[in-house]
Amino acid sequence: MPQTSESDRVLVIKDLVKKFGEKEVIKGVSFEVERGETKVIIGPSGAGKSTMLRCINRLIEPDEGQILFNGVNILSKDVDIRKIRAKIGFVFQHFNLFKHLTALENVEIGLRVVKGIDEEEAEEKARKALAMVHLEKDAYDRYPAELSGGQQQRVAIARALAMEPEIILFDEPTSALDPQLAGEVLDVMRELAKKKVTMLVVTHEIGFALNAADEVLFFYDGVIWERGEPKELLYNPKRKETQEFLRRIADLSVYGGK
Ligand SMILES: Nc1ncnc2c1ncn2[C@@H]1O[C@H](COP(=O)(O)OP(=O)(O)O)[C@@H](O)[C@H]1O
Ligand SMILES: [Mg+2]
Repeated sequence: MPQTSESDRVLVIKDLVKKFGEKEVIKGVSFEVERGETKVIIGPSGAGKSTMLRCINRLIEPDEGQILFNGVNILSKDVDIRKIRAKIGFVFQHFNLFKHLTALENVEIGLRVVKGIDEEEAEEKARKALAMVHLEKDAYDRYPAELSGGQQQRVAIARALAMEPEIILFDEPTSALDPQLAGEVLDVMRELAKKKVTMLVVTHEIGFALNAADEVLFFYDGVIWERGEPKELLYNPKRKETQEFLRRIADLSVYGGK
């Protein structure tokens, strides 16, 4: 195998620090995401996972460190962050679809407004993206309120995919869903991982991490406490905090959730 070159790295995070007032929430985090890779972040609530993801497209401004996107430090002043954002997909826990637009229109709008693609081509691309997430045909013209949570989240993933981003960031995409609906979203994400869509995924879904991740990072108290190959980290964690976290997650699934 050839060695990984800089150009294979979509994202490089170096010594990232973020404070809210006096409180340091990200305390020097470094990792990288290579093209085609699925990286999964797990960790307890309050560990700084969402803050870290939001730093990547500068919804939050970090205080120190570097974020290299395709080799360019996106924290430098002369970077046009809107151009960078157009290349980074983001899928949130609470879908964030436009309520007054249909499923199809929700996927089209970014193509029209951000990419300036004409109506006909935008519709074609949007239909392709909705097919990739297996949205039922009769749901294309429905409004978000008329869709299940699983369908809404699949539309949100299609919206991200249609923009042909270099990476998609997921922040607990299935946490608001019943297990069955979470399953249909995770199936789609597994397919994307197989297709080598580059993804950085914050999730508590250990099954997904086991069979889709190339590497798992355990976030704890603002740092990467432990990281490794999925089976190794999830079945054989070295550190006490990782073991405790995984035990708690296993208990939750045994007792049927929260
Ligand atoms: N805008 C904010 N202002 C102040 N503190 C915040 C803000 N956002 C998050 N925090 C704090 O930062 C810490 C990490 O939060 P977060 O990144 O949401 O963790 P996670 O996603 O791992 O649950 C928490 O203690 C949270 O209360
Ligand atoms: Mg979070």
